[in-house]
Amino acid sequence: MKKKLSLIAIVSLVIFVFVKCNNPKSEPVADQASKENFSGFGSQVKWGEHLVTVSACHDCHSPKKGFGLDSAHLLAGYMGTPVADVHH
Ligand code: HEC
Repeated sequence: MKKKLSLIAIVSLVIFVFVKCNNPKSEPVADQASKENFSGFGSQVKWGEHLVTVSACHDCHSPKKGFGLDSAHLLAGYMGTPVADVHH
């Protein structure tokens, strides 16, 4: 009886592993979903905007207005406004 139970357990495990590893839909579905919603940002443009913001690209590539960014000219480069002195 014990041998029969362990045989059933082993066979079940082998089937489970086989089905898990050979199911081509399990991984690509997750990949496809994250590609379609761009890691939760909804569009490639929004995702790129996030990456540029968190990577501090604006620090050097966008003109400033007061204490913030000149939102009408993001990533427009130097437009006659003072730039941060990064050469010390
Ligand atoms: C510390 C300042 C600084 C930061 C921060 C910075 N850049 Fe730059 N970037 C420069 C400078 C200066 C140049 C010009 C280099 C040269 O021409 O030799 C440049 C050039 C570039 C160029 C080439 C532009 C061209 O006309 O060929 C690209 C593209 C670029 N940066 C993208 C980015 C991105 C994307 C980020 C954010 C991940 C970023 N930069 C962050 C200073 C910076």
